[in-house]
Amino acid sequence: MKNILITGGAGYIGSHTAVQLVEAGYNPIVIDDLSNSDERVLDRLKEILGKSLTFYKGDCGDRSLLDQIASEHVIDGVIHFAAFKAVGESTFQPLKYYRNNLGSLLTILDFMRDKQIKDLVFSSSCTVYGQPEILPVTEETPRQDAESPYGNTKKICEDIMMDFVKSQAGIRVISLRYFNPVGAHPSGKIGELPIGTPANLVPFVTQTAAGIREKLTVFGDDYDTEDGSCVRDFIHVMDLADAHVKALAYLGEQRDNFYDVFNVGTGNGNTVLEVITTFEKVNGVKVNYEIGGRRAGDIVKIWADTTKINSVLNWHPSYSLEDSLRDSWNWQKSL
Ligand code: NAD
Ligand code: WQD
Repeated sequence: MKNILITGGAGYIGSHTAVQLVEAGYNPIVIDDLSNSDERVLDRLKEILGKSLTFYKGDCGDRSLLDQIASEHVIDGVIHFAAFKAVGESTFQPLKYYRNNLGSLLTILDFMRDKQIKDLVFSSSCTVYGQPEILPVTEETPRQDAESPYGNTKKICEDIMMDFVKSQAGIRVISLRYFNPVGAHPSGKIGELPIGTPANLVPFVTQTAAGIREKLTVFGDDYDTEDGSCVRDFIHVMDLADAHVKALAYLGEQRDNFYDVFNVGTGNGNTVLEVITTFEKVNGVKVNYEIGGRRAGDIVKIWADTTKINSVLNWHPSYSLEDSLRDSWNWQKSL
């Protein structure tokens, strides 16, 4: 059984990926410093999986801890989720973001080369595309200057990995550019755990429906879109998790010094207002919302062209927007 080190494996996307990895026959080993997650996630994973995962609490930028892990387990591949991800915070604490997001990747790459661990799947983001002129975006759509230090870390991380592969470091890398991850494990045992006031749409919707927030503000209804609100590609976190499993399997068949990128989205765009009305319909609850002004820096519309991931990785999403919003609500109710 292959051991896969998942950095940030107690987080939102990492925890769901751990589940899918076990189901696909891998042994995930989690390292997480719990800076944006809770150790109880490991208990929930045990309930879902019927067994405990190996867990190291610590910073994946700590080389001595990585060496300790490698001395205790043969590591066959790495999925590097660990990063700070709050776009707003990154604009007033940029060094925190550059230090963690770039620093942890540099340490992971050094570690992989030294221990001859070949395969790396990296969490990138559609944020690297900015506001594209032509939609949907393919992997060939040019990347643009990042809107935030957070977004810039993803762009720089991609460049670092490309240069490292070009240097004949012997590794194989896939960068997955996630669109908007939503939903939760259908059991309601794990999901997204925003600390403080959520910045993202769906956690704000579920917390408003639950009465934790008084009202949701829709940031603008005067854009050039179907109903005036922004358009995004909302991808169920279980489908996103499955893309990592497919990416790992594909990496195993590639030559050394391989680098590629894939969009991970559904291929459909939905407006913010559609998300709210679909949420209300699927779950039979009201969401108190008002239309507010535009949010600075917002992309108007973006969704993925998924031709490449569909054909090369044979990955296809199996959850609908309705499924995502039902599972998000189910998770919120369990909290
Ligand atoms: P998350 O915050 O839920 O998970 C990240 C985990 O990494 C957390 O558990 C945190 O405690 C841990 N972590 C952070 N720095 C660490 C370090 N140095 N060492 C060890 N652990 C560390 O976030 P998520 O939504 O699961 O995102 C996972 C990855 O996907 C991130 O790289 C993020 O930038 C990227 N991404 C997320 C989204 C999104 O909307 N959620 C979209 C695109 C890309
Ligand atoms: C979605 C839409 C908002 C909250 C962010 C990051 C991006 C990527 C994904 C990591 C927008 C609207 C939101 C609210 C609203 N993450 N909205 N009221 O902006 O697509 O992207 O997460 O890589 O880098 O920037 O996601 O969930 O914040 O917003 O109207 O209270 O919902 O204006 O149109 P976004 P989001």
